[in-house]
Amino acid sequence: MDHAAPLPLTARRSGPLKGRVRVPGDKSISHRALIFGALAVGETRISGLLEGQDVLNTGQAMRALGARVERTGEGQWSVRGVGVGGFAQPEAPLDFGNSGTGVRLVMGAVAGCPIVATFDGDASLRSRPMRRVLDPLALMGARPVRVSDGGRLPLALQGARDPMPIVYRTPVPSAQIKSAVLLAGLAAPGTTTVIENEASRDHTERLLAHFGAQVAVEPEGEHGRRITLAGEPELVPAPVVVPADPSSAAFPMVAALIAARSEVILTDVMTNPLRTGLITTLREMGAEIEALNVRSDVGEEMADFRVRASALRGVEVPATRAPSMIDEYPVLAVAASFAEGTTVMRGLEELRVKESDRLAAVADGLRANGIEVEVVGDDLIVHGRGRATGGGTVATHMDHRIAMAFLVMGLASERPVQVDDMSFIATSFPSFVPMMRALGVHLT
Ligand code: S3P
Repeated sequence: MDHAAPLPLTARRSGPLKGRVRVPGDKSISHRALIFGALAVGETRISGLLEGQDVLNTGQAMRALGARVERTGEGQWSVRGVGVGGFAQPEAPLDFGNSGTGVRLVMGAVAGCPIVATFDGDASLRSRPMRRVLDPLALMGARPVRVSDGGRLPLALQGARDPMPIVYRTPVPSAQIKSAVLLAGLAAPGTTTVIENEASRDHTERLLAHFGAQVAVEPEGEHGRRITLAGEPELVPAPVVVPADPSSAAFPMVAALIAARSEVILTDVMTNPLRTGLITTLREMGAEIEALNVRSDVGEEMADFRVRASALRGVEVPATRAPSMIDEYPVLAVAASFAEGTTVMRGLEELRVKESDRLAAVADGLRANGIEVEVVGDDLIVHGRGRATGGGTVATHMDHRIAMAFLVMGLASERPVQVDDMSFIATSFPSFVPMMRALGVHLT
């Protein structure tokens, strides 16, 4: 599946940004709500679902696997599930578009069912590594029957007739790998264990418990976790309220910090501690970000954030923080460009296998806009001078976060910044352009 003609977009100097906005629902929770709803017996009601293309593709896959998935209002969805192990064999290939989360989690869920399904996606997703989930799923009894070169999509997976529980240590900190193993483990008798050396986002564990599964989480080493799941539960439908996505809030947050005299309030933002590395880092850089109205709802914490334009300074971001802000480095690199001094972001190996090679895409985009930047091993080093020249065109490589990050750069740089294609923004943040315009950003 490939997309239509690219849509360039330009951001020019704007501000001050003012207003109160709620960014769309969290993408990670939205995918999982649909998948868990499809594996529960009965009706799951979801509110605040992210209606971005990635999540809609997961909804479509759940339909193709036999669940009833209906939109009942804006962000309101109803899923009637088929039960753990109950997926039907899909007639056509499942198309996950741009989404690594969608395809890897659904591979896990399919691995525990005695069906064959074909998985595919767009050119970006076809270039991403899938062995990282196929390997543990094979240990559980699933069999890849057709795989493209280098363990890529399109591929067909034969799910296990008798899935086996395993103890699996993830080779990289990845919530997608962890979640694929746990989803397959639902259909296995006995206990499935995932061990991670660095804790990754834990929405799967939280939702498993919310849907009635027995799941235990214990610390492992200094930063890691050991997750154990009792197999073959009956998942019981439970309402899911999706808070606003902190990874989407990151864009208006950094925008407000770098556009002089701005003050923006971002409401209902999820504050799960495994997702807030960016806020920690920005505060260390001197950002004025105030949490108001801290609360929790249906298993996740959230807050409103007041963000004021701030003088930022360079900092060192440790590699151990990467899992809690893995999607936020492109926009952090933009913030670092407007800081005084050098920001060193360590341990960004995983950025090379996201929707694009984000380490290269960020470095190229910054250079095109007059920022001095180095990539040393897996570290990204940005030499901030409190300002950016701009004037460049940024290659987005089918990557929504590269597009949004550089549009944020353009609103505070001296000359406009153009991105070559804004169409992929619709995968995660379909209201980005109107919302940023409402805050006062010039986008044409
Ligand atoms: C996600 C996990 C992360 C992240 C992605 C969403 C998830 O990927 O980059 O946007 O919902 O599990 P990895 O688990 O591969 O790091």
